[in-house]
Amino acid sequence: MTSFATALLDWFDRHGRHDLPWQHPRDAYRVWLSEIMLQQTQVATVIPYFQRFITQLPTLRDLAAADEDIVLALWSGLGYYRRARFLHRAAQLCVERHNGELPRDFDALSALPGIGRSTAGAILAQAYGLRFPILDGNVKRVLTRYHGIAGHPGEREVEKQLWLRADEHTPAERAADYTQAIMDLGATVCVRTRPLCNACPMHEACVAHRDHLTAQLPTPKPG
Ligand code: ADE
Repeated sequence: MTSFATALLDWFDRHGRHDLPWQHPRDAYRVWLSEIMLQQTQVATVIPYFQRFITQLPTLRDLAAADEDIVLALWSGLGYYRRARFLHRAAQLCVERHNGELPRDFDALSALPGIGRSTAGAILAQAYGLRFPILDGNVKRVLTRYHGIAGHPGEREVEKQLWLRADEHTPAERAADYTQAIMDLGATVCVRTRPLCNACPMHEACVAHRDHLTAQLPTPKPG
């Protein structure tokens, strides 16, 4: 394991979030629903929506069979309603093609509406413990700072480097915890403005911390 992963997992055991509603019980449908809700929305906002949704539509088959009006009503207030339409359509595709289950296969999973490379990785790691990297906004911030990677993360070459780093750090063991850990670190310690570097388990090896560049990284979008 890289020292990055070791330090991060150790931090997670002591300071990470272990009581999120989609962690108990943890199944693929619950993890998937949470990841779609969390794509543009913070954890604290998502929790009550998640609880209500999962109470009304507790299984993937319930979601697939529901009227779209019901799904959109459960999403009402979360915004980005396209996410709800994709979720509903993807559930129907799982019933048609995958025996009513979310596929464990990366290509099949990322072929579903609303599931890109990072979300597919987050689901496979958290639901099935498979070793797949993730790279959402929080993770991009952590990795650009730790490795001192300049250039806007939306640029193809920068994003490519970030995926390589994300992959290199993702451990074979404890893939689910690692995935939650790096998102938690980005959301609570390696925050965009005034990161809490003293609370970060990796700050001694962090390039941005060493060179006083946390305010400059990640590089903002040009123009
Ligand atoms: N953002 C996306 N997925 C998340 C998760 N599982 N925990 C916290 N923030 C997230």
